Amino acid sequence: MSVAETIAHLESAVPIAGRKAPPCTVVIFGAAGDLTQRKLVPALYNLANQRLLTASGFATIGFARRELDDAGFREYLGGELRGHVGESFDDGVWSWLCTRTSYVSGNFDDPAAYERLAAQLERAQQEFGTAGNVLFYLATAPEHFGLVARMLKARGLLDQSGGRWRRVIVEKPFGHDLASARALNRELQSELAESQLYRIDHYLGKETVQNLMVLRFSNAIFEPIWNRRYIDHVQITVAETLGVEKRGGYYDKAGALRDMVPNHIFQLISLVAMEPPISFQADAVRDEQCKALRAMQPFTPADVLSRVVRGQYAAGNAGNKTLPAYRAEHAVAPESTTETFVAMKLGIDNWRWSGVPFYLRVGKALPKRTTEISIHFRKPPMVLFRHTEVESTKPNVLVVRIQPDEGIALTFGAKVPGAALRLGSVFMDFSYSDHFGSTPATGYERLLFDGMLGDQTLFQRADMVEASWAVVDPILDLWTKVLPHDFPNYHAGTAGPVDADELLARDGRQWRTILDTTS
Ligand code: BG6
Repeated sequence: MSVAETIAHLESAVPIAGRKAPPCTVVIFGAAGDLTQRKLVPALYNLANQRLLTASGFATIGFARRELDDAGFREYLGGELRGHVGESFDDGVWSWLCTRTSYVSGNFDDPAAYERLAAQLERAQQEFGTAGNVLFYLATAPEHFGLVARMLKARGLLDQSGGRWRRVIVEKPFGHDLASARALNRELQSELAESQLYRIDHYLGKETVQNLMVLRFSNAIFEPIWNRRYIDHVQITVAETLGVEKRGGYYDKAGALRDMVPNHIFQLISLVAMEPPISFQADAVRDEQCKALRAMQPFTPADVLSRVVRGQYAAGNAGNKTLPAYRAEHAVAPESTTETFVAMKLGIDNWRWSGVPFYLRVGKALPKRTTEISIHFRKPPMVLFRHTEVESTKPNVLVVRIQPDEGIALTFGAKVPGAALRLGSVFMDFSYSDHFGSTPATGYERLLFDGMLGDQTLFQRADMVEASWAVVDPILDLWTKVLPHDFPNYHAGTAGPVDADELLARDGRQWRTILDTTS
């Protein structure tokens, strides 16, 4: 198709998924940053390509300190876009998006910059029919969240009168401990209603994460056994092969615990552990997630010492790349005591999960990139097999692979063919891409789309964020008092420190191997 034909097609086509975003402008603060170029604009491009944006009512505005004009901003985005959207890149779609993309340069604390933004929003409304609706995306450093919200409100840009809507998406990290998360909630809530506030966690944009609820609640076979009577324990692994790359400055202050656990990993746990919601309405789902988070057993200082393991990588080879030691990475302190690996044993104190440990581990510079949740069922009794050659029965394991090869596998015992009675462990495997094909996605499409539709289900509510930090806070406290004495304690390319293995070995269990995600 020629560019003109593609544009005509975009204007007339019905969306592939059956509904379109309402007319609106998406304003990205921090638009000259990495996230905008790598994720947000590719996600808007993918939405346009899937005909999910209203062709006669969409515009986007970048806002950042860098001095650029509209053409310079479009060039900055376009230069990388092809690489980020891959084979689905179409000049016509980009050209359509480009004409609706403009830029406002200014400091976040400068009222004149917000005047320019207001004027640009007015123009977008006139020119592109955006109906005065605006989705502000704060892709800035967290210290600017409160300031930007204040400045937007002061200029009247959060005003929803006349039927138009104004919403604000806030990137992570949302605070660095419980006190700062509470303070940030208070600060934002004094400028915005909770219904206007969208705290993003990009893990919830992942298809398989969303599928967790569907798996649990649209199948009759799982829910009856989804409890302490049938489940022995749950493991969650988020392994990355990369080191900290260019983010040493941020990461050395944050560490693996803050970076991944109270947000991404707790979101996964809450979806696995929650009770069935009374509906799929945003607050019905979030009420149940929040209850699961609140039921997490608090850590005493003694628990932190016995049930939480931290690690930091030394030089090695991970994912076919040679990595320097963490302490030798750019912008990392040479004596840094920041952890790049965490493992812990969590309990959820409620009727369903009492006594079922949730083991989680997350780390950089591990052997393979893999994110998975595995549900380990109780072992069947040996009674029938005790006079056979079978030495032990194996538990069933249900593995939900979040990435990279999204899918679900179930292991079960089968007889090995032959005269003797021997048991083998085999598996049934469902792969998303084999079955449904793959749609190019950055993981931000669904979240941006839901923001435009006003659906908060996949965004974190204030109480969820606070409940998560409340679990992690005692660990942070103790770690600032008791510094690690054995860092670095694992080599890049290995599965983390030996203490993490001991954490499970003490309970007579072991981690699934990181190299093998399908069995
Ligand atoms: C980010 C963390 O939130 O998630 C990064 O700050 C991490 O350190 C990333 O690498 C992992 O996301 P994904 O989607 O690649 O699993």
